[in-house]
Amino acid sequence: MAAAPSYPELAGRKALVTGAASGIGRAIATALAAQDMIVGIADIDVEAARATATAIGGMAFALAIDVTQRARVEEAFASFVTTAGGCDLLVGNAGVSTMRRAVDLTDDDWDFNFAVNTKGVFLTNQIAARHFLAQGAGCIVNTASLAAKVGAPLLAHYSASKFAVLGWTQALARELAPAGIRVNAVCPGFVRTGMQSREVLWEAELRGMTPQAVLADYVAQTPLGRLEEPEDVAGVVVFLASDQARFMTGQGVNVTGGVYTT
Ligand SMILES: NC(=O)c1ccc[n+]([C@@H]2O[C@H](COP(=O)([O-])OP(=O)(O)OC[C@H]3O[C@@H](n4cnc5c(N)ncnc54)[C@H](O)[C@@H]3O)[C@@H](O)[C@H]2O)c1
Repeated sequence: MAAAPSYPELAGRKALVTGAASGIGRAIATALAAQDMIVGIADIDVEAARATATAIGGMAFALAIDVTQRARVEEAFASFVTTAGGCDLLVGNAGVSTMRRAVDLTDDDWDFNFAVNTKGVFLTNQIAARHFLAQGAGCIVNTASLAAKVGAPLLAHYSASKFAVLGWTQALARELAPAGIRVNAVCPGFVRTGMQSREVLWEAELRGMTPQAVLADYVAQTPLGRLEEPEDVAGVVVFLASDQARFMTGQGVNVTGGVYTT
């Protein structure tokens, strides 16, 4: 793979990434650190966050956060600002899924997905936005989903929670635009992470298929002909955080290998 593009303006800026211990968040944090940014690896799994920070090295450090709890988000954000010496970028990436037919969904499925995916984005974005407005600059990138653009079978509750992320992202972008603060989202497709491994097993059982057949179906739906890697998403997040994306706000950028195109 080609060397990561260099955006010199990012060097020394401070980025807090939620859900950064693993998967897409870990790849985003790694890519931001490669631009010489100071990166906060914020995750509910603090041991995994520490391991990720150690693996990244440089100026990455771990933080405990539960994005569903306002007090925990405020503590983590304040701790990051103190340790890093500020905050310029918030990546609202933490997310969860469960999988069930819509007619079988439980209240717990609904509440869990909305608590992390939607309320988590609300809380982290709001607390970062207050800081960015006070300092007169800042940038937000959220991780939405392909399932934020098109309703995903067996993931109706997850889809609804991610459609909400895009609605929030668009509205917040319009409110913060006069202050020069940009708010965008990425919409990944079938990404090879722990979340995907869990979903493949659930989907195989629900559809009466083998896990291998489920994965083959994901690839068959993808015009570029392979599973997506976390790094495919990370490069786009770095671009959105860079000054090259200075005239982009309120966007939900598809990064799906062509699965979805509008
Ligand atoms: N994997 C995919 O195919 C895919 C596709 C589209 C969108 N996404 C989205 O990408 C994001 C990252 O997913 P992933 O695939 O890397 O999953 P993952 O399970 O590998 O990573 C998610 C991370 O979020 C953390 N987390 C969970 N609940 C949290 C909480 N309450 N507070 C803080 N951290 C919490 C987990 O500990 C984990 O480290 C999610 O928002 C997900 O919905 C994933």
